[in-house]
Amino acid sequence: MTNSKIEQLRQAKEQIKLGGGAKRIEKQHASGKKTARERILSLLDEGSFVEMDAFVKHRCTNFGMENKEAPGEGVVTGYGTVDGRLVYVFAQDFTVIGGSLGEMHAAKICKAQEMAMKVGAPIIGINDSGGARIQEGVDALSGYGNIFYNNTIASGVVPQISVIMGPCAGGAVYSPALTDFIFMVNQTSNMFITGPAVIKTVTGEEVSKEELGGAMTHNKVSGVAHFISNNEDECIEDIKRLLSFLPSNNLEDAPIYQSEDTMNRLSERLNDIIPANANKPYNMKEVITEIADNQDFYEVQPYFAQNIITGFIRLNGQPIGVIGNQPKILAGCLDINASDKAARFIRTCNAFNIPLLSLVDVPGFLPGVSQEYGGIIRHGAKMLYAYSEATVPKVTVILRKAYGGAYIAMCSRHLKADVVLAWPTAEIAVMGPEGAANIIFKNDIQGSNDPLATRSEKITEYRDTVANPYVAASRGYVDDVIEPMITRQRLISAFDMLATKRESRPAKKHGNMPL
Ligand code: HXC
Repeated sequence: MTNSKIEQLRQAKEQIKLGGGAKRIEKQHASGKKTARERILSLLDEGSFVEMDAFVKHRCTNFGMENKEAPGEGVVTGYGTVDGRLVYVFAQDFTVIGGSLGEMHAAKICKAQEMAMKVGAPIIGINDSGGARIQEGVDALSGYGNIFYNNTIASGVVPQISVIMGPCAGGAVYSPALTDFIFMVNQTSNMFITGPAVIKTVTGEEVSKEELGGAMTHNKVSGVAHFISNNEDECIEDIKRLLSFLPSNNLEDAPIYQSEDTMNRLSERLNDIIPANANKPYNMKEVITEIADNQDFYEVQPYFAQNIITGFIRLNGQPIGVIGNQPKILAGCLDINASDKAARFIRTCNAFNIPLLSLVDVPGFLPGVSQEYGGIIRHGAKMLYAYSEATVPKVTVILRKAYGGAYIAMCSRHLKADVVLAWPTAEIAVMGPEGAANIIFKNDIQGSNDPLATRSEKITEYRDTVANPYVAASRGYVDDVIEPMITRQRLISAFDMLATKRESRPAKKHGNMPL
């Protein structure tokens, strides 16, 4: 090989690395965004990135495109490691034709997806694009279709993480929507099917880009996104933290880290966390952090449907997916959004072999016309389905209320929880004592000389007889009633015992989950 050939190669690679050129890179930086390559390099372990397909070119000849250079075809793809573990990545390069997606841009992404599936590695996609490359017409649409198909085929095989670090509009949003987790950066990212201008023309509504599809909108209102970060550096750290809880693929277990916390640590705080008055709230997040190794809890969707909490902890180093009712919000009732959020999280954990811990304090499904019209029956059913179908180790702790259908839905023994523990404060019954007394003791209360006193007596009678953990324990629906302070100890022991759990299901094409 002559030196000039090597020099030529070097120059070509340097040219490609410059993407859309210095001016556009400057514009990208000025808007608070990094370039595609900078993003990949800050995500991956130093020196580990191997780029693929840098020489790929578009084949479009419409509208002067035959003379238009698009270095890297507007997307950087390849593989590398995060904390020493292999991942595939792609990052759209906004400096090259606005990161717009044409046939060959899509082909690069598809190749990365297919390689990730083949070798069983997570794939992280960084989105920053004006959407379908308009000049390419149906070829661009075909590219999107191929990506969506691959997203679906990869679902449940390798973790797929989408990162929105710029615009993501039109049908382009459906690739992230098909993946397991979506990260958004506050103020610099947005997702919508149709932007503010189109909405104004069609419906007359006026809305800003941020309000319509900004990071907080999708984290809090729509529930489309799972995480929000203040800036790109923080987002990259968050992605790494999430990856630490996930296995590389569905045939592996998530990595177990040496725990620095004591296995038998007692939490005296838990013995008095439940208020004496059963109608008073407390913060379930405190319970979760008390139990977790190093009090470390990585919450998923912290702003959406806050009446249910989802996220990851470690117990003696083992990653665990936690689902907990939050008595502080809507008294911890299950509603449409909470059901969707929890069901999705349960399925994600089950797909990737992450055991499930359910912390129960649920007065029921949320009553209301809007909930019924919105299909709470259909949405609530997703939780029943997701818990029933999950074959990972399932451990449930009933802290306080566990009423009616919501008791069943929160991973009760009846949905095949492997271990069910209850605190002495647990109330497990068809409905709360107040409501129950009004119905079954109606005649006693109405016929009494002092209806208020009689009602109060009957409420106590009902609570003592039925609304406690001992009836359920006497049937074996609850395995043990425990002192709250030993919860961590008992959970570590339970998940340790369940490590070799095997559960098989009848063969079928797939179930028909209510959607
Ligand atoms: C071709 C595009 C493009 C696109 C941007 N560019 N989007 N080229 N196809 N979709 C080009 C611009 O012409 C410009 O080229 C460069 O990228 C940077 O764009 P600017 O407009 O200068 O940047 P900015 O002001 O930051 O605005 C960004 C933007 C805007 C908001 C994303 O570019 C925009 O509105 N683009 C069109 C978005 C859109 O409607 N896309 C189609 C969505 S429908 P020069 O050469 O001047 O630097 C869709 C369907 C998918 O995607 C269906 C899948 C099933």
